[in-house]
Amino acid sequence: MTDKTLIELVGQQTQLIVELGEYAEILHWGKKVSGDLKSHRMALHRPVPYGRLDTDISMTLSPELGRGIFSNPGVEGHRGGQDWAPVFFISNIEHQKAGVVIESEDKIAGLVLKTELLLDSNDVLKTRHTLTNNKSDVYQVNRLANTLPLPARANELLTYYGRWVHEFQTVRQPLLHGGYQQENRRGRTSHEHYPALVAGTAHFDEMQGDVWGFHFAWSGNHRLRVDVKADGRRYTQAEVIYFPGEIALNQGESITTPWLYASYSDSGLNGMSHHFHCHVRETILPREFKDKPRPIHLNTWEGIYFDHDPDYIMSMATQSAEMGVERFIIDDGWFRGRNGDKAGLGDWFLCETKYPKGLQPIVEHVNNLGMEFGLWFEPEMINKDSDLFRAHPDWLLAVNDYEQPTGRNQYVINLQNDDAFNFLFERLDYFLSTYRIAYIKWDMNREVVQPGHLGQAAGHHQIRRYYQLVDKVRKKHPEVEIESCAAGGGRIDFEVLKRTHRFWASDNNDALERQTIQRGMSYFFPPEVIGSHIGASHCHSTRRQHSIEFRGLTALFGHMGIELDPVKEELTEKQGFERYIKLHKMLRPLLHSGRTWHVPTDDKAHQIHSVVSSDQSQAVVMVAQLAMPTCALSGHLRLPGLDPKAVYRITMLDKPGNYDDIVNYQPPWTESGCELSGAWCEEVGLTMPILDPETAILLKLERID
Ligand code: DGJ
Repeated sequence: MTDKTLIELVGQQTQLIVELGEYAEILHWGKKVSGDLKSHRMALHRPVPYGRLDTDISMTLSPELGRGIFSNPGVEGHRGGQDWAPVFFISNIEHQKAGVVIESEDKIAGLVLKTELLLDSNDVLKTRHTLTNNKSDVYQVNRLANTLPLPARANELLTYYGRWVHEFQTVRQPLLHGGYQQENRRGRTSHEHYPALVAGTAHFDEMQGDVWGFHFAWSGNHRLRVDVKADGRRYTQAEVIYFPGEIALNQGESITTPWLYASYSDSGLNGMSHHFHCHVRETILPREFKDKPRPIHLNTWEGIYFDHDPDYIMSMATQSAEMGVERFIIDDGWFRGRNGDKAGLGDWFLCETKYPKGLQPIVEHVNNLGMEFGLWFEPEMINKDSDLFRAHPDWLLAVNDYEQPTGRNQYVINLQNDDAFNFLFERLDYFLSTYRIAYIKWDMNREVVQPGHLGQAAGHHQIRRYYQLVDKVRKKHPEVEIESCAAGGGRIDFEVLKRTHRFWASDNNDALERQTIQRGMSYFFPPEVIGSHIGASHCHSTRRQHSIEFRGLTALFGHMGIELDPVKEELTEKQGFERYIKLHKMLRPLLHSGRTWHVPTDDKAHQIHSVVSSDQSQAVVMVAQLAMPTCALSGHLRLPGLDPKAVYRITMLDKPGNYDDIVNYQPPWTESGCELSGAWCEEVGLTMPILDPETAILLKLERID
């Protein structure tokens, strides 16, 4: 046995103890405990039972079949059938405060594996591998996975599922024998398989339990797995799904995995979310607009769809500005041939029939009203009914000679074709250079069925080229903000967020549905990146009807906007938009910098969400009544995250129109306000008012001493 070294990575609350010898093994990833590392190591030696291999086999950062780890290997590949079970030996270690970079080599197989394991001060761990081929023959990589261990007490999971207009749904399940696996083969991050999950101790909840949250930062096909080995040990693994033959490394060539982000919290989901939110704010989000308040949007899509008339659009802009909107976005329908969703994609030239005087008068009008101007694009897509396709049928992302189904009547452009890539860049560049465009809504409305390039599988490269296209646009136009949209929330992940500034969370603007969607998303993302719009009172995607109060408060807790035609709205609705825009502007500094709390409830029919300022001097709380209250009385509202010693003045900022009519009387504190200590608010709380289903109230807390 070679000498072994123990190293520690330490965050604010987290500790990782890693043993480095022939290979790397994480011995402890959890709560920080001070003490002698060697004694801690001694405490963790495992027994070796009869009936299996005669020595202890470690769960390494890249499980290897050749070492006797009967887990899903970290590297799978071959060189014409050889070198298929590599075993790596550590050849170099660079250990710094932020983490460790481990280089391992398999001299026989001619492979080098670099493993990065970094822990930041927000307790977010990130890891990735780079595999390099050192031999002259091509090495075919089938799999390259990131692996992190979980302790045996992690025996419950929170995972995600969803679909279009129903993103970020969560489900709990026990983690017993065998484990869990999700595979995404849809070619984008997807609505169905958001690439994240949480493992934790039994019954972990918002406030309690040890949890380990994982987010795989990749916008394409992936596999996420949590395995319970037959011996009870468990681990999480995340990888890109490579198609056959896709990753072939020539001598000297490498492949790097996406980052797997992970965070441990000893205080349930809220603790985990705080880590990820801080990490997103400090490390993931592009820096340029960090201190700029998120402008309130008016997006034209649900207001006019493809029916564009410049004069009318300008009147929409005028109304928007009067309501307090700060950014006006023309959505789909502005370019040649785009009168519906069957034609036009790819023809990124202004439709001169719809816009005979060009775009400039509208941009100027919007700017003169004091608003920024934004424009919708869907660069990666093409309709067969387009001039682009007629000129370049070979630009389709496809497997030659096979038919493929359309999605929303469209196909994907092969970004690996340089001419296609350059054309798209040139078109985006043209618009961004010609007009004062402050914002692009970058959409992606179909799944990828045949990611083929020159006859070979190329799903991974397509995603890399997408990143390159966004990066190239950003480099040339750093003043432009970008929203990532994919038929709503189909492309939401940390890797996209490194190059964009906001997500369109869902095409579903139904406030009731949005409560669940935004809650699911908010475990990993802070409110300022969650695009959240007030839609029409009759929701277009569910046909439900909601009051302006419920719609307004739901949209308030994100990056707020309006998604309708303001010209057609009645005065009371307009007054409502104005009111919630004002409220959002007032609360925005707090909402977009404070700490989000998913507040536990006495009644599952509620959803309570609060944001507490980082200095704990203020807080804002939304109590949403999702369904019929379970009992006649709704229990207590108990608020975590306040300074226990401080006294707060609590006032109700907003309530449903019928608030006082549905009961003999509501709790008096909701009328008069009250003053309570942070400790009281957390431990005992306030009696809940009675609310009708699909309504909400908003409270403000201000520290008074
Ligand atoms: C899907 C998006 O999610 C919508 O908001 C809208 O932009 C449409 N595409 C336009 O085609």
